[in-house]
Amino acid sequence: MDGRLPNHIAIIMDGNGRWAKQRNRPRSFGHLEGLKTAKRIISHVSGLGIPFVTLYVFSTENWKRPLQEVSYLMGLITSYLKKEYQFYDEHDIRVTFSGDTTELPEEVAAALKETEDYTSGHGGTTVNLAINYGGRDELVRAVNSLPLKDGRITADDIASALDHPEIPDPDLVIRTAGERRLSNFLIWEAAYAELYFSPVLWPDWTAAELDTALGDYAERTRRFGGIVS
Ligand code: IPE
Ligand code: IPE
Ligand code: MG
Repeated sequence: MDGRLPNHIAIIMDGNGRWAKQRNRPRSFGHLEGLKTAKRIISHVSGLGIPFVTLYVFSTENWKRPLQEVSYLMGLITSYLKKEYQFYDEHDIRVTFSGDTTELPEEVAAALKETEDYTSGHGGTTVNLAINYGGRDELVRAVNSLPLKDGRITADDIASALDHPEIPDPDLVIRTAGERRLSNFLIWEAAYAELYFSPVLWPDWTAAELDTALGDYAERTRRFGGIVS
């Protein structure tokens, strides 16, 4: 890849259900394929030396789906995290999580914690998985965690109380499968992110798709409200 690479990419992995439907298969089949895609894209991001990638895995709104689908997804998350230790080692990947883990089934929360601990010494790409994550929920939790003090709460106070204050804001937010909305993803952190929308369903995403997004990003002029001469 030539040109300027983002420091942090955040991806709304969308379209698993539609991908399965196109094949007359259950939605779970699409989620399984989506998982393979996540590995493919993580490998590529890590190979490019991009320090941070956040993947939207399960939103605070996704509990509205049928219990069968929610249970399938929770099971997939738990077994995948445990199975992939070799993959994290090979790529020197550190895994972290955003979201309210206190509301997750116990075995899911335990798998998250174990994976975070296991990979904490790795120095390559940080893969931050957003699970039971909602941007509004994150903000509410952050504000409630701040100590009561005289005077006003500042933007820095809030930023420091978010799930991962040490991870820089995303430079590029990608959404797949044609939808053009944020669906409650990183609403604070993505305030100045470049947005990239792709019609390609997540299970069909390849390294080439990501390279196209990165090429597009490299052409953008980021002004942050200022003027670039
Ligand atoms: C994204 O794919 C994965 C999750 C939200 C867990 P969807 O399941 O939303 O797929 P579509 O949008 O129905 O095609
Ligand atoms: C957003 O996708 C959440 C994840 C990708 C985890 P959804 O498919 O849930 O979003 P909406 O319902 O189309 O906004
Ligand atoms: Mg969707």
